[in-house]
Amino acid sequence: MASFSTLCISVLVLLLDLNFASPVNSPERAVSALAQAKRSFDLPIRRTALSEGSWKRGTDSGSTGLGDFLDLFYMVPITIGEIETAVILDTGSSDLWVVSDACNSTVCENTNMPPYPSADIKPAGGSVTLLYGDSSTGTHASGPVAQDVAAIAGLSMSQQPFAAISDTNSTAVMHGSNGIFGLGFPSGSQVQATVIDARFNNPSTTDDFILGTVDDGPLLSRFAMSGSLEQPMFSVMLQRDIIDVSGSNGSLTVGKLPDGIDNSSLTWVPVRLYGPADGGLNPPQFAPDEIYPFRWEVPIEGVILDGQVLPASNLSGSNSGLSALLDTGNSVIRGPNDVVDYVLTQVSSAFADNSDAAPTFPCSAPHDLAFQIGGKTFPVDPRDFMSQNTPGDASTCVADHVVATDPPRPGALFSWSLGDPFFKSNLVAFYYGNLTYPSVDPPRIGFLSMVPVNANSIVQSDVAQAQANGGMFGSAHPICFELDDL
Ligand SMILES: *[C@@H]1O[C@H](CO)[C@@H](O)[C@H](O)[C@H]1NC(C)=O
Ligand SMILES: *[C@@H]1O[C@H](CO)[C@@H](O)[C@H](O)[C@H]1NC(C)=O
Ligand SMILES: *[C@@H]1O[C@H](CO)[C@@H](O)[C@H](O)[C@H]1NC(C)=O
Ligand SMILES: *[C@@H]1O[C@H](CO)[C@@H](O)[C@H](O)[C@H]1NC(C)=O
Ligand SMILES: *[C@@H]1O[C@H](CO)[C@@H](O)[C@H](O)[C@H]1NC(C)=O
Ligand SMILES: *[C@@H]1O[C@H](CO)[C@@H](O)[C@H](O)[C@H]1NC(C)=O
Repeated sequence: MASFSTLCISVLVLLLDLNFASPVNSPERAVSALAQAKRSFDLPIRRTALSEGSWKRGTDSGSTGLGDFLDLFYMVPITIGEIETAVILDTGSSDLWVVSDACNSTVCENTNMPPYPSADIKPAGGSVTLLYGDSSTGTHASGPVAQDVAAIAGLSMSQQPFAAISDTNSTAVMHGSNGIFGLGFPSGSQVQATVIDARFNNPSTTDDFILGTVDDGPLLSRFAMSGSLEQPMFSVMLQRDIIDVSGSNGSLTVGKLPDGIDNSSLTWVPVRLYGPADGGLNPPQFAPDEIYPFRWEVPIEGVILDGQVLPASNLSGSNSGLSALLDTGNSVIRGPNDVVDYVLTQVSSAFADNSDAAPTFPCSAPHDLAFQIGGKTFPVDPRDFMSQNTPGDASTCVADHVVATDPPRPGALFSWSLGDPFFKSNLVAFYYGNLTYPSVDPPRIGFLSMVPVNANSIVQSDVAQAQANGGMFGSAHPICFELDDL
């Protein structure tokens, strides 16, 4: 089950970017200044309809900017049927849902995005209850599975199954979004499973499920299988608005790498495949030797803090191999409890194991947490490792971006989950390959570090300037937000 670390706090402390620096003493003032800094996005005008399973190598691709709430929630504009709305980008789950006007729960009453009209629902068979780990108690979203035209990044697909949610308590339905866009593999999709079960009368093999992905799978999997994309892939960059408004523009690019990025600069590694014993799909009868991907997860070689390779975890499940989930629906970096404790002890010798409080350290002495992937080192920018402990105090920072997660288990073999702090520091490209026969063209993930070589000195100079200018250099404390499906 999902882990809920007590290190996550539920209250945001908002601080301002140094570039806007002025002493901010009231949270209200910080919120309104932050709202001004919030990046908006426009729906792409071009819209290309992708065909289902045409199997031709195509020329289609598209890109869209991302919405950003406090550098903690990233959403993408989407059109479903007649509504234009926004949904949280989540590579850790596989289902697309938006709330419908039938939802009258507290969060639904508080969303300011247009709901899907229940009068428009074209049933695709069955209904789902999706469970997420995005609060201390978990959340649910339930409703009928419908189908309609769905468009993202200027590309559209007809008859896309999605859940028209009539009841939810998910915090995803706030802060300018209206649901979740799961970009995970078909094998994790409950919407697809529900449609296939209804259509094929609960088949006992996975044959219909695997062959059915092209018609009833997750939106981007269907894009990839349509053959009309330049490449069966998408790539993600997250912007860092709070602490660095002049930084990179976040984007979701479908069908290719973002413009200006050369493939040869990326480090590509194979996605971990999940056999039946790992909690993955049974192979279909037509391809009994295939093993299918389940999560956007890759092997990693090691984790490094300030140049020192961290000791391996001794917790149960740690023999399942060191690997990391790439999860845009996770607002922090998560790792094995004992290794996270070790990291926090290195940050502050005063840190007590199993302490509820993340340790503090001098802001002027930033820390480098880095992941070794495919023979290279991919650091988390030191700006994303820390938060200011108290507004107006640029001397004391807190290490609250790294928290413990559950030990590996079948269906979730990863030991680390690399969330938004990692995506602000790295371009990550997700290549589906051949979803019917993965052995023909295996899925893989490409990485490109965006961290400047002088990142530590940038932080130190920001901190020094902040100390001279009222003590604000900006950061948001992460909140418990993790959209992994349970
Ligand atoms: C929401 O609507 C349902 C019927 O669709 C009703 O049973 C329920 O009482 C309503 N809840 C609230 C809080 O209005
Ligand atoms: C959401 O609803 C589920 C019941 O489906 C409940 O277990 C959970 O505590 C609720 N979470 C929140 C944050 O209210
Ligand atoms: C971000 O987008 C803005 C507006 O489109 C553009 O002017 C700026 O150059 C972009 N920044 C980067 C780093 O690409
Ligand atoms: C990029 O290069 C890698 C390694 O050479 C290759 O596996 C991958 O297919 C290429 N991807 C794209 C999008 O060209
Ligand atoms: C695991 O055990 C070994 C041997 O006792 C120890 O050196 C290492 O530090 C432990 N790992 C962690 C994360 O504490
Ligand atoms: C996947 O591989 C099969 C078997 O080689 C092939 O027939 C099919 O065209 C491939 N699909 C794509 C989308 O490349």
